[in-house]
Amino acid sequence: MNHLRAVPGADPRAPLPPRPGSATTVRVEAPGKINLFLSVGAPGPDGYHPLTTVFQAVRLIETVTARSQSRLERGRITLRLEEADARVPADGANLAVRAARLLAEATGVDEGVDLIVRKRVPVAGGMAGGSADAAATLTACNALWGTGLGPEDLQALAARLGADVPFPLLGATAVGHGRGDRLTPLMTRGRYLWVLALASRGLPTPAVFRRFDELTPQPPAALAEACEEMTAALRCGDARALAAGLHNDLQEAALSLRPELADVIATAERAGALRAIVSGSGPTVAALVPDSGSAACVARALETSGPVRGTVRVDAPVAGARMVG
Ligand code: C5P
Repeated sequence: MNHLRAVPGADPRAPLPPRPGSATTVRVEAPGKINLFLSVGAPGPDGYHPLTTVFQAVRLIETVTARSQSRLERGRITLRLEEADARVPADGANLAVRAARLLAEATGVDEGVDLIVRKRVPVAGGMAGGSADAAATLTACNALWGTGLGPEDLQALAARLGADVPFPLLGATAVGHGRGDRLTPLMTRGRYLWVLALASRGLPTPAVFRRFDELTPQPPAALAEACEEMTAALRCGDARALAAGLHNDLQEAALSLRPELADVIATAERAGALRAIVSGSGPTVAALVPDSGSAACVARALETSGPVRGTVRVDAPVAGARMVG
């Protein structure tokens, strides 16, 4: 990893001079994800579960704006949500703040940054919204601070922040191994349409993994063959074959914590979805639909059914973290 060094002889108390030609504001977008396939093994000594998963980035986009600070605030990292949300911490517990701090430490930067986050991915929804914020922040601060880390270095930092952080850097569709952080991009054809059913209350990921351990004390080895069928379907752009291959080992655990999600899945499938599954650790349900007409029918059926807070129609795959301003 490249390490920037402090300028020799510089007075550490002096206000930071603006870097000639450098941006003072960088805006980055990063996508939420769904898991098309998720096979979970028995936890290791660190408590993490080995995974075989297929991630797909969907057009539900987090935006992080990183602003340089003028004076006095040297080394301070602040975060503000564009729309206040009591469920999202704005202090050092926020994954975006941790991302900026990790990048600063890894590169020897002592500048601060003001982060403004616009959230669109449901909080604690099994779609890695917080991880997308972290990925966007790494990308934004890397540009703002001129630290110039390449994709591999950013991926390594991302993996230290959380299992789901590397994927929103990469985007599109990828197989994940290990904790889900060792990624291999997948060639895919076509666009897929999803209707996402949002729940009124989030589900904490660790609780879902704990319930998985209770329900499945001896999980079988990862379903590598089923994953092969899925990657073949994606290569052909065959939505029906993709639907047949959708699989989530955490679904049973999520349904046992939120039984009403079974009705959400059934409602979506009755209304014309090719298949509907819990996304990652849930509680968001992702319904794959054949066309925009079906998307409208499925969304209407879900919105008039009890346990759904709302729906979002998205297409996929979309790009990973990228600068937009
Ligand atoms: O890595 P991250 O902080 O996103 O993971 C959140 C939690 O999800 C972990 O603390 C762990 O309980 C669970 N997890 C797991 N196995 C994985 C990924 C996450 O048990 N492969």
